[in-house]
Amino acid sequence: MVVRQIRVGSDNFSYLIHDRETREAALVDPGFNASEALSMIRDEELDLKYVINTHHHSDHTAANREVIKETGAQLAASSEDGSKLKEKVDVNLEDGDELLLGCLPLEFILTPGHTPGGLCIIVEKEFLITGDTLFINDCGRCDLPGGSLSDMFVSLQRIKDLDSSLVVFPGHDYGPRPFDTLGSQIRTSGVLMAKDIDEFSRL
Ligand SMILES: [Fe+2]
Repeated sequence: MVVRQIRVGSDNFSYLIHDRETREAALVDPGFNASEALSMIRDEELDLKYVINTHHHSDHTAANREVIKETGAQLAASSEDGSKLKEKVDVNLEDGDELLLGCLPLEFILTPGHTPGGLCIIVEKEFLITGDTLFINDCGRCDLPGGSLSDMFVSLQRIKDLDSSLVVFPGHDYGPRPFDTLGSQIRTSGVLMAKDIDEFSRL
């Protein structure tokens, strides 16, 4: 698979993405311990181009510095959440931006709600990395600083409009399984089934 899900600690997920032809790679959310991801990068001789943060929270970003130091990768984050990171952001991502790993496209969607600059990433029109915006059977909390219930509802409506065959790869293992198709989540997850903001806010 071009995307590998790596467990960090008890329930955080990192994602290592690579292009088979060029070995160019990106690590999404190194978390607070990137040792397993760094071993894979070394063992498979991947050329890590980017560390990408879905949002600024430290359980997703604490190992940024270590990975950047070891690999020379550029740091990519949304402008809004990137301003809260300790490290210098090299690539400011906006809604609709795209990055390429060789020929492998990464497409970014701004999905505020958990944080003001939360990002989801569509990889090769096949995978959807959702950070703390969408979990399996749930969504990220909106009551932390910068969170917004109404923004989260709008972001979830945008996600519902994406291709239902996408495989959802969340930022935490909070559900009954570590990943699922978007179509299955749209049919079964209360946060995606809520018809309006009132129904959503009562969940
Ligand atoms: Fe978070």
